[in-house]
Amino acid sequence: MEIVVGITGATGSIYAVRLLEALKEKGVYTHLIMSYWARENLIVESKYSPDYLESLAAEVHDNKNLGARTSSGSYVTDGMVIVPCSMKTLSSIANGYCENLISRSADVTIKEGRKLVICPRETPLNVIHLENMLRLARIGVRIVPPMPAFYNHPSSIEDIISHHVMKLLDQFGISNANGNRWNG
Ligand SMILES: Cc1cc2nc3c(=O)[nH]c(=O)nc-3n(C[C@H](O)[C@H](O)[C@H](O)COP(=O)(O)O)c2cc1C
Repeated sequence: MEIVVGITGATGSIYAVRLLEALKEKGVYTHLIMSYWARENLIVESKYSPDYLESLAAEVHDNKNLGARTSSGSYVTDGMVIVPCSMKTLSSIANGYCENLISRSADVTIKEGRKLVICPRETPLNVIHLENMLRLARIGVRIVPPMPAFYNHPSSIEDIISHHVMKLLDQFGISNANGNRWNG
């Protein structure tokens, strides 16, 4: 399995760290693309460095490199996840504005009918944000915001992160025991 992982400048870069760790452990071949603000936020809000994140990926692409493989539909992948996804990147995807490799790769993923999973992060959400999400949801993009569940009694922030990573792996049909699932 081969998945493109885009990371943008919304808060919540730790979700991307844990997702990439899980994908590596599962043997998934990953293409990592980080925006400028994703790098900045990772440094500001976590103990991890961009170098560490890059060490988890099979391939790393510069967000400015529109000639990278994932920029073309002729390069086949199993899909893409953007975690966390800023309202800016959400808007560019919803409007087909491919100004960087993340938005171009997302556009390619949609046009090729592959799975695109987006984790938008903002609060409160305005009508523009909501309409952009609705526009993408209508064409089959999976909108998976990082919203914690409490029915599984999380006892730490790591529990909450694991639960969201479980939801992301589930989107791609990757079996995992990451989160504490509801069993009735
Ligand atoms: C500390 C910090 C936290 C931010 N959190 C969010 C956020 O949660 N959601 C969001 O849409 N933008 C957030 N932003 C703003 C984005 O980083 C900004 O809109 C940027 O242009 C996004 O570009 P990108 O999508 O190319 O990464 C944040 C910025 C900073 C510095």
